Formats: sequence, C-alpha cells, structure tokens
Amino acid sequence: MRLLIATGNRHKFIEISAILNSPRLVMISMSELGEVPSVVEDGVTFEANAIKKAVTLARFSGLWTLADDSGLEVEALGGEPGVWSARYAGEPSNDAANNDKLLRKMTGVVNRRARFRCAIALVDPMGRARTVSGACEGTLRDQPRGAGGFGYDPLFVPCGQSLTFAEIASEVKNGLSHRAQALTLAVQEWGGLLESEPECWPV
Ligand code: IMP
Repeated sequence: MRLLIATGNRHKFIEISAILNSPRLVMISMSELGEVPSVVEDGVTFEANAIKKAVTLARFSGLWTLADDSGLEVEALGGEPGVWSARYAGEPSNDAANNDKLLRKMTGVVNRRARFRCAIALVDPMGRARTVSGACEGTLRDQPRGAGGFGYDPLFVPCGQSLTFAEIASEVKNGLSHRAQALTLAVQEWGGLLESEPECWPV
C-alpha cells in the first residue's frame, strides 16, 4: 500500500518510516506531491489537529494518509503550552523564545512535572479517521541543557533519566519519546490492515 506521511518535517518522516517499516508499505512524503494545501492547526486537542492535517491531505491526494501532532503539557501551568507548543512565544515559531517563556512562567514553581504528548491520525481516502496517542512523562529543568534534539528538549528530563532529551543520544530519545509510543501503538492497531491494502476503513 502507498501511505502518505503528512509532515513537512524530514526528521519526523524518517522516524515514522523507520518504525512503520514494512516491505508492503511504500511511504510517500509530501515533497513528492508538489504543491499541497496548507493546514491551519487551530484544533483545541492534538487529536483534532492530527485529524485535520490527515483528512485535508487524504482528500487532496486520494491516498491513505498518516499525520501527527504533538506538544508539551506542564502540570503546574494547567497543561500549557499544549497545542500552542510550537507558537508559545508567538509566530513565527522559535524554539529558544518558547523555552525562555516557559522558564519565566516556571520561575519559583516547585512542581516541575510535564509530559510530551503525540496524537497520530490514520485517514482513508474517503477522509475517515482513527487515532492513537502516546505520552512521555518527565520533569522540567530550571535552565536549558544540551545541544541535541529540538523544541523543548533542552528543558525536559524523561522519567528514569538524569539528562535532558537534548543531552541523550537521539536513538535513546527515539525509543522513549511520545512519538515512539504512539507509533508503536499505531503498528499494533493498524499494521495488519495497512498490509492488506483495503480501499477504506472496514465498518
Ligand atoms: P508539531 O507536532 O510539529 O506541531 O510540534 C509542535 C511543537 O511541540 C514543536 O514545535 C515543539 O515545540 C514541541 N515538540 C513536539 N515534540 C517534541 C519533542 O520531541 N521534543 C521537543 N519539543 C517537541
């Protein structure tokens, strides 16, 4: 089956292709489609944004389409930055400015618990969606550490580790991450279906 991976992020495309890897699955990137419709991520949940991206691109391409949406939820901030993670300090998206804003809001806050969340939507060519999600629990440091990764990685220490996501090897992060958890679930739930090449979701 041909499966469109609806992300413009090359790192995500590689990570998703590696985990979904199967000889019967041909992963198509957005760049192979030429000009594609842009999607405004205005949903109030990660699931809504993932569905919106996947439905738009599935209808446009006529292909089964997979999309993800992710972000950071901080317990003491009532779940902020959440779906606004990429644009927390305003547009255009800027990782350093987002981290600065988060650190300012967390000054003096004792409860440092946070989690990364990821929702993945799989949509058939008719535009019908199903979702899975994954989470990675951890705590926030009070200053950035490490040069790897992206986004909030320099502030986030996953449970069971003493280093931030920006300090540990990417293979270790990719084994623990919210995206890895969601993708593993996607393979469990949908792996067989994707290999059987159905025209749409079975009812
Ligand atoms: P999106 O899923 O590409 O829309 O990501 C939204 C935002 O969430 C990113 O711009 C990052 O700020 C943050 N984010 C999502 N996943 C990660 C991660 O694995 N590490 C660090 N930040 C992340």
